Amino acid sequence: MKEALLHMLTENEGEFVSGQQISENLNCSRTAIWKHISELRNAGYSIEAVQKRGYRLLTSPDLVTAEEVSLYTGKGNFGKKITYKTSVKSTQEIAHSLARDGAEEGSIVLADEQTGGRGRLGRAWQSPSGTGIWMSLILRPEIPLQKAPQLTLLIAVAASRAIENVTGIEAAIKWPNDLLINGKKVAGILTELQAEADSIHSVIVGIGMNVNQEKKHFTEEIAEIATSLTIEGGKTYKRAEIVGAILQEIESLYRSYLDKGFAVIKLLWEARAYSLGKRITARSVTGSITGYAKGITDEGVLLLEDDNGKIHSIYSADIEFPSH
Ligand code: BTN
Repeated sequence: MKEALLHMLTENEGEFVSGQQISENLNCSRTAIWKHISELRNAGYSIEAVQKRGYRLLTSPDLVTAEEVSLYTGKGNFGKKITYKTSVKSTQEIAHSLARDGAEEGSIVLADEQTGGRGRLGRAWQSPSGTGIWMSLILRPEIPLQKAPQLTLLIAVAASRAIENVTGIEAAIKWPNDLLINGKKVAGILTELQAEADSIHSVIVGIGMNVNQEKKHFTEEIAEIATSLTIEGGKTYKRAEIVGAILQEIESLYRSYLDKGFAVIKLLWEARAYSLGKRITARSVTGSITGYAKGITDEGVLLLEDDNGKIHSIYSADIEFPSH
């Protein structure tokens, strides 16, 4: 009901919508409308109420609540079910538990703040309140386990396209799925699986994106290597709009992938790749190899040619760019 009311006000942003129109459309009493208007105002929406004219939405806050995000998810199925929390340890944990309880594909978990955000390779992910997108998406692809890394690459392409659609800024992909702007990381993706033998029950895709942080918001430790859309674009963005764009991009690439396979995604990934052709060091628990990034295989594996001309397949590693 609150969501439907917000949709009506947003569709007519800047115009009055009469109490009568609202109560007819939403089939509710004037008292109920008033209650929801008060709730929206408390959440930061500025809504004017004028006798005999009705209600008019003047400005809306930068929130990633279910009602705000639902304004931007379009006609697709992804994002139809949204679990929003003001503060959580990690949206991944909630999404894992929802997935175990049978949540449907396309369900998402969003939080304004994470107190124990997780990154790849066991790292922490800084997720302060009010500035970024901290989101987990549940997928249930019927693909063999070994193809799961392809999905990670697909998500990186989708997130990069979403950034470009909303902000006009191009974000390059550093293998496997870091998004970089001017060489600094703006977003990271963490793909986790619930699987058994070789069958996937669900894939929990965690996306962390720095949106409205200013330089001073980053700790010294990451200020050198991280950036945000605001730092790069010189303005603030509506996080909910970017979430909507990410979901729409993921859903359309995912449908094409399930239908036609990885070839198209591979081309799109390569077109945005930052590391291909560059001299890189791949560091993993088993050691590090330096050489030239030659490309990715159809399985999403990175091919690295060392100085003796030997080609190595890199399945999981951290990529660095040596200075010599
Ligand atoms: C990385 O680059 O290391 C991946 C970062 C992934 C962060 C996101 S934020 C939403 C989701 N919840 C988490 O705890 N992690 C992911």
